[in-house]
Parts: sequence; structure tokens; C-alpha cells
Amino acid sequence: MSKFYITTPIYYANGSPHLGHAYTTIASDVIARYQRMQGNDVFFLTGTDEHGSKNADKAFEHKTTPQEFVDQISAEFQLLFDHLNISNDIFMRTTSDLHKQGVKKFIQTLKEKKVIYKDTYEGLYCIGCEKFITEKELVDGMCPDHKAVPKKIKEENYFFNLKKFLPELKEKIKSDELRVRPEKMKKEVLALLDQDVLDNFSISREGVDWGIRVPFDEKQTIYVWTEALQNYITALGYGSSDEAYVQKYWPADVHMIGKDIVKFHAIFWPALLMAAELDVPKQVFAHGHFTINGDKMSKTIGNVIDPHDLIKNFSTDAARYLIISQFPFGEDGDIKEEKFIEKYNADLANGIGNLFMRTLSMTERYIGSVPERSDDEAFGNIEEVWKKYHHHLENFETFEAAQLIMKFVAKTNEYAEKNKPWELAKNDEKKLQHVLYNMIEANRHIALMIRPFMPHTSKMMMAELGTTEMLEQRQLDSEKWGGIDAGTSITKPAPLFMRK
Ligand code: MSP
Repeated sequence: MSKFYITTPIYYANGSPHLGHAYTTIASDVIARYQRMQGNDVFFLTGTDEHGSKNADKAFEHKTTPQEFVDQISAEFQLLFDHLNISNDIFMRTTSDLHKQGVKKFIQTLKEKKVIYKDTYEGLYCIGCEKFITEKELVDGMCPDHKAVPKKIKEENYFFNLKKFLPELKEKIKSDELRVRPEKMKKEVLALLDQDVLDNFSISREGVDWGIRVPFDEKQTIYVWTEALQNYITALGYGSSDEAYVQKYWPADVHMIGKDIVKFHAIFWPALLMAAELDVPKQVFAHGHFTINGDKMSKTIGNVIDPHDLIKNFSTDAARYLIISQFPFGEDGDIKEEKFIEKYNADLANGIGNLFMRTLSMTERYIGSVPERSDDEAFGNIEEVWKKYHHHLENFETFEAAQLIMKFVAKTNEYAEKNKPWELAKNDEKKLQHVLYNMIEANRHIALMIRPFMPHTSKMMMAELGTTEMLEQRQLDSEKWGGIDAGTSITKPAPLFMRK
């Protein structure tokens, strides 16, 4: 058994969660559940990023205090993740005492290591990005991501000596000691390091009240990104009286993020860790962004999809599946709302749902229980399917893994069409038993494979097949063909997915 520490970004508590947040979190949950299914000791983190001007300004707009505001938004995130059946081990909040004490120790450590110094920052700051921005990055005088004119600021800050760590960091990325993936992201990050454009950056702010005070300078608060990144170790108790989890789980096996925040995770964060003499994460995986019907998701355009609506319209498991099965995880893509229904009917109602229903109904009608296995032949090259399945999920290819499962479902449905058990029932009892055995066993494999994607459906299927104990077993044993016991009584199940 090995440990596996996986994180999502912690999301800004400046507004209700949307499909973008759900997207990263569901994909990470699939990976976390997959790793648990392999018997690994998983620690899965998600949470909210609660300090800084971005959150404080929103609180002001809502005529409430920052703390009250982030409490409410953070609760909304937690509720959504509960409804999406996210299996996080911790929900991290940057306003928690656990976080604050760890951050203080980290900043103190940077001071002791003499990697921070006081200087004046004079330049631009985009509150939307919560980042310092240069003239060169502006388009028509505005931040290209937020279409807003950045604020001019001049203030005393503590700066981090980033440049000192860049040559070593570059080596770590090049050699994959710190893997940045997908490959194109690694190239982008290395190009950025080659161009020599990265400068030392402020790790504190002077005029921002809503933040954690610098322990040795009460006038300063810690720059929100610097402290937010630290949540990945403060969550493990870094800086507390019990650092056992830091020993056990750090370094993170993977930080899952969107491509918008690669620089922070693949450059700033590892450099800060190196400065504090802590291990860098093993991997940063940046997925693509989606648009909705071709446009960036935005309240003004009115194309925001509320994940709660997806759950209401389709069920939790279906919503999880529909979000994952849009386009490959590492790439950009477009989500078309009308496709949800199409895909739901094709893959879930007519695919898995129909296959399961017809298999069990026929077994009940013609035999009443799981028939004896009549030969050793495995249907559908199952070993090969499992091999590909593992390859995909070990590499975070959630979309490809989902497609693979659907192919196997289609193959089993074709097998039924070809062998026509309803005809065999009239004249060939032996072959009927053989075909139905294969179909039932195929359904058992499907139930196992969908487990990280649709945990509830997986469990329902296993219960109908009388094999729930397999959910506790070592996965490898359950992957062999022939795992279902003959004689298990089978009755017609309730539909898994109603057609829409
Ligand atoms: N608070 C920072 C992260 C700090 S991590 C130490 C932040 N928060 S955020 O609320 O803006 O969330 C950004 C993340 O949301 C992206 O990296 C991505 O994971 C997810 N997404 C937001 N919009 C998205 C899309 N349109 N498409 C895919 N994912 C998107 O940045």
C-alpha cells in the first residue's frame, strides 16, 4: 500500500461555486476514489481560499463583514461537494486556525533562511487575479483575463528571492523530479524559465487588511497567493504540535489545477518550498478550460450552468459522469447544454442502464439465478480492458477511461444482440446459460469500473448481483473473469437511469 496525496485548488470564496469548480473537483474525486480502490492510503484535499481584496470587496458589496461573507460562500462549496458525493478527507479553509498557525511558521522560516527582504513595490495589481501584473501583460490597458483596469499601487512589501531558486527548480522540472503535466504545460513552464522574465515577488501587502498578519511586522498582511498555496501543508498540520501527517503525506503526489494557475503551482510554490527546505510536490497536473456553447462561462452572457441543476435534472452520479465525459481532461473544450440529455440517454439510460436491466430481467425470467460457468473463456478480452483502464486512470485520463467503459458496455450489448438469449431460451438451454453467465459477469466488471465515476450506481449494481463484498476486496482478485458465484439469486432490478 502506498500513500497518495491529491489536492484541488482551493477556490475563492467570492461567489457561489459554478461548473468550473465542480469540474476540477469531480475529476480529482474520480482519481482519489480510483487510488483508494487500488488499496492506497489516500488523502484528498479541497477547500476555499478566503483572504485578500477579491473576497473582501465582494463582502463589502454585500454589506457584510468579510468573515460572515466567506463563511456563507464556503458553506455553499461544502454543500455542493456533498451533493456531488465528493470524498475529500479535509475541506480546508484559509481562515481556520490550523492554516493561520502553519502560515506563520512558514513565513518565519523564510525570514530565518534569509530569503525575504523589504522593498518598495511600485506597479500594477489586478484584484480579479489577485496578482501583480506588468504593462506588457495588458491588452488595451486592461487585464486580459478580467477585462479590468488594474490598480496602480506603491507600497512597502516583503519580497521573496525567487530568482535564487530558479536554476535548481528548472532542473527539477526538466528531470521530472517535479512532473508538470500534460507535456505541453511542462514545455510552457520551461520556456518561461528560459526567457528569464520571472522576478522576485511580493509575499506581503501593506494596504490589505483582510489577511494573515506577518508575524514580525503587524503593518503587513501576507499576500493571498503565498498563503493560499501553503494550505497544502498546513492542512497536514505543518506548524502545529502534531506534524505526523506532514511526515506521512507530504510531498503531494499531485496538485490538480486549471491551466490558469500553473505559474503559481509549478514555479512559485515549489520555489517557496525549496526556500523553506521542504520537498517539492511530485506532480502538478493542469487541465484545460471549458467554454459553454462556445462562450466563456459568465453571468453577463447568462450561460452559467449551475451544478445543482444538473444534479436535480439527472442525479448525482449522472451529473458526475456527464461533466467528466465532455472532452479529454488535459485539453480545452466546449460544453453544449443540449448534449447532456443526448449523452445521458445514450450512455446511461440506453447504455449501462438498459444492459443491466435486460441482463437481470432475462436471468430472472429464464433461470432465476446466476447460471454455472460452462467454459473458461473470458468474454470481451477483459484483461486487456482492465489494463487500459488502469493506464488511463493512473495518468488522470478520466475521459478516456469513461469512454473505454462505454465501449465495453456497447460490446456486451452487441453480444446480446448477436446471441439472442430470448431465442436460446426456446431451444438451447446450455448456450443460454453460457451467454447469460457472460452477460452477468460483464455487468459485474462494469459495476467495478464505474465505481470511481458513479459510486452510488456501482454499489446498487453490486447489490443486485449479490457481490457487494467485492467492494471491500483487493481489486486485483475482482478483476479476474469468473468472479460471480453460480446460484446467486437474481431478480429484476429497478431502472438505474430513467430515460429522459
Ligand atoms: N484561489 C485560487 C486558487 C488557489 S490554490 C492554492 C483560484 N481560485 S478560483 O476560484 O478562481 O478557481 C480556479 C480554478 O477553478 C481553476 O484552476 C480550475 O480548476 C477551475 N475552473 C474555473 N473555471 C473553469 C473553467 N471554465 N473550466 C475548467 N476549470 C475551471 O484560482
